Amino acid sequence: MKITLIGTGYVGLVSGAVFADWGHEVVCLDIDQKKVDKIKDGIMPIYEEGLEELVKRVQAEGKFVATTDYEMAVNHGELIFICVGTPSNESGAADLSYVFSAAESIGKYMKEGEYKVVITKSTVPVKTSEKVSEHIKVGAGSKKVDYDVASNPEFLREGTSIFDANNADRVVIGSGSEKALNLLESLYAGLNTTIVKTDLASSELIKYAANAFLATKISFINEISQICERTGADVKSVAIGMGLDNRIGPKFLNAGIGYGGSCFPKDVEALYRTSSQNLYDFRLLRGVMDANERQKIYFMNKIWDKYGTNLSKYTFGILGAAFKNDTDDTRKSVAIEIIKILRGAGAKMKLFDPAAMENAKKELGNDYITYMESAENSFEAVDAIIILTEWKEFASLDYEKLSSKMKGKVVFDGRNLLDPKEMKKLGYEYFGIGRHKV
Ligand code: UDX
Repeated sequence: MKITLIGTGYVGLVSGAVFADWGHEVVCLDIDQKKVDKIKDGIMPIYEEGLEELVKRVQAEGKFVATTDYEMAVNHGELIFICVGTPSNESGAADLSYVFSAAESIGKYMKEGEYKVVITKSTVPVKTSEKVSEHIKVGAGSKKVDYDVASNPEFLREGTSIFDANNADRVVIGSGSEKALNLLESLYAGLNTTIVKTDLASSELIKYAANAFLATKISFINEISQICERTGADVKSVAIGMGLDNRIGPKFLNAGIGYGGSCFPKDVEALYRTSSQNLYDFRLLRGVMDANERQKIYFMNKIWDKYGTNLSKYTFGILGAAFKNDTDDTRKSVAIEIIKILRGAGAKMKLFDPAAMENAKKELGNDYITYMESAENSFEAVDAIIILTEWKEFASLDYEKLSSKMKGKVVFDGRNLLDPKEMKKLGYEYFGIGRHKV
């Protein structure tokens, strides 16, 4: 099939490369010439496991073309995916201006007599696809263009997005047009998965409902961690016991410092807003957001309880800045927020993250923070280690050997990566989340 994707962020670039890998003819458009030039040279604008190799290969095979030429891109695709960003605006609502501007450009370059399906892949509030259709009409002006709109939300996780795209739990497609649904179904026919065909609004809502539910699961286990701390229970054991119930499942039950990233905070807020706009007060979501905010303060309280609120006499080794492991992304990272709170309290920090150092530097600058070459270097003469991102390699450091470098033998484990009993054996004072203090 001939496919065009507008936008070369996570969603557009990964989906485009994967579609090309499946044998389709793909054009990826971005209005940013520098970004497109880099992609052509095999330099990815984002860090994503396996993406560079994949894009280089499909480009060499002639199945993937990156361009800034809108006219060519729109003419090329029978399926045109809108994959541009939908950042939150100041009021917390999704800013749809990039989506609508893409829709108008698509309308502008569409030719009479050529059928197209315009699919929204960006996460957009319910009812947006209807508006996309209106914007295409505006762009088309007096031309009689033949098109349908559809919704095909993306569920990929950063860090494993290529795997996710090839091993989707399900594919969701929504449209009022049978023809559009069938075309999209044939695109995904090679995947061994269930394809949910539905109307536009349901498809759009599925994405928000799924993300909000996962965020709810995280806030739920984070609240349980508070009960654990107050009763002497251990949240890891509670999560294992809960997760073995098939109806609950073990995933997204890791208690920590709260969820972050470019999706969950934005999507939970946007769903809450949609519900309010439809005159419904979604109280559960308010609780989810509150619990998430509180969780980082509970974590900070452990540090303040130990050292007092003025931290200017202390230096901490900070492990992690990304919003989760296996990504360089620091957008809405709780790790970054905690580093800022620590700095506000006067603490000095020795920071290391395996992938997010550049982004951390951009967000944090150099005041109070030294950027280290390795996790091990972050232990040098510090009062405590503070783990903020769930990178696997932080769990397998040689804590026994590294303790001799430290000034104080203390670990604040914001991701429950370590075993409290092991840490006690090694002589550490250990603080986890919802775990026994040792
Ligand atoms: C999420 C959704 O999983 C994905 O389906 C959607 O398309 C985009 O949003 P992503 O933002 O890449 O993906 O990260 P995810 O792995 O879901 O983690 C989100 C946040 O929750 C991270 O900050 C992570 O640290 C946190 N988290 C996750 C927990 O605190 N505990 C958990 O058990 C799981």
